[in-house]
Amino acid sequence: MLIRNETAGDVPAIGRLVTEALRVLAQSTGTEAGIVEKLRAQGALALSLVAEAAGEVIGYLAASPARIGTQDGWALIGPLAVLPSRQRQGIGTALMAEALRRLRATGRGAALVGDPTYYGRFGFRAFPGLGVAGCPPEVVQALPFDGQHPCGELIHHPAFGLDQHGNG
Ligand SMILES: CC(C)(COP(=O)(O)OP(=O)(O)OC[C@H]1O[C@@H](n2cnc3c(N)ncnc32)[C@H](O)[C@@H]1OP(=O)(O)O)[C@@H](O)C(=O)NCCC(=O)NCCS
Repeated sequence: MLIRNETAGDVPAIGRLVTEALRVLAQSTGTEAGIVEKLRAQGALALSLVAEAAGEVIGYLAASPARIGTQDGWALIGPLAVLPSRQRQGIGTALMAEALRRLRATGRGAALVGDPTYYGRFGFRAFPGLGVAGCPPEVVQALPFDGQHPCGELIHHPAFGLDQHGNG
């Protein structure tokens, strides 16, 4: 398996993969593939990593610029998706490890909204005062690279379509 940046030829497969993998998720809105397209169109994919095996895209991870409160320099990870037939084989872990390796070189930290049971293993955790309006606080998690405690609203890129203060 190879983890690499997306190429133009991957775009349709990424859309299909994200839609198929997230369909099973109760909290999925069905808009995730469209969000990736919008991020791409707006030049806001800080990372767009694919996992490839035998020439097929089997996993995907996106990261985009985000703020926590007034603090720039955060990377929002998501969506992360692995083809249903290839889940629980370490592909999500490999994508996340490569994303964090790259983000550590430049960023303040990574943040995401997701299952704490899964993301805790990578060092993500909730912080008092860190949140997204309408989300249970335990699913809003950060991994600061400098040990600081992030506090405030996790403000996603406008492509996510959240009505967040600060999106202008
Ligand atoms: C969540 C997801 C990205 C994980 O990728 P993956 O390649 O299946 O994960 P890995 O093989 O690296 O899993 C590592 C561990 O996480 C566990 N795990 C996988 N999915 C999990 C989940 N949804 N909740 C809790 N634990 C999970 C696995 O059991 C495994 O643990 P183990 O090795 O101790 O058994 C993938 O299952 C997926 O696409 N799921 C549907 C979409 C989704 O939930 N996306 C995340 C929110 S955007």
